[in-house]
Amino acid sequence: MTRTKVGVLISGRGSNLQALLDAAADPAYPAEIALVMSNRPGAGGLSRARAAGIDARTIDHTAFENRESFEAALDEGLRAAGCEIICLAGFMRVLSAEFVSGWPNRILNIHPSLLPAFKGLDVQRRVIEAGCTLAGCTVHIVTPELDDGPILAQAAVPILPDDTEETLSARILEQEHRIYPAALAWLASERVRMVGRRAFVDGTSAIGALLAPEPDYSHS
Ligand code: GRF
Repeated sequence: MTRTKVGVLISGRGSNLQALLDAAADPAYPAEIALVMSNRPGAGGLSRARAAGIDARTIDHTAFENRESFEAALDEGLRAAGCEIICLAGFMRVLSAEFVSGWPNRILNIHPSLLPAFKGLDVQRRVIEAGCTLAGCTVHIVTPELDDGPILAQAAVPILPDDTEETLSARILEQEHRIYPAALAWLASERVRMVGRRAFVDGTSAIGALLAPEPDYSHS
């Protein structure tokens, strides 16, 4: 089986990267992580990648004159490594429409909300403050609009009365680590078809949504 090569872009600790590395450690997984690049020097995810024997590089955006030359360096690295899919995993730079158009339906992102609600930053704090009772995460195909684009997978979790930003983030993150490897596997094995904004997996209209298991309310 030829595995689809994937480049992962990160800026930080890389726990989602770790979930992808762990999934790809199984030779039966349809994608292999070929390259990891961080725009922040010293990002924790770089060590995770190196520990897994993966080429991990820093492409520091502050060292470039402009976004165009920074993105050209990313693009060049990804293509030279033979990557066919890009996974954004806590990558804190917005990619330009030019960059995105070079990878049509080939870039995935994970976002810690049930999109299209709560795009942007500080999602967990905002979702608690808004009085929501459910939160979650979304894997979507990247389009030029921030946190937009066809949804491949979502998981929902409860917001408990005593939740803080930290406890809720941890509960969401656990689900991120489940749905990101699943969504990447679908895309890498060509099981995703797009109809307008909707992504269908294996021709089903269920769009591969994964729901979190029964919440454990015992401690509340
Ligand atoms: C995750 O919450 C992800 O949803 C968001 O950034 C965070 C990255 O965490 N896009 P990690 O670096 O993968 O641990």
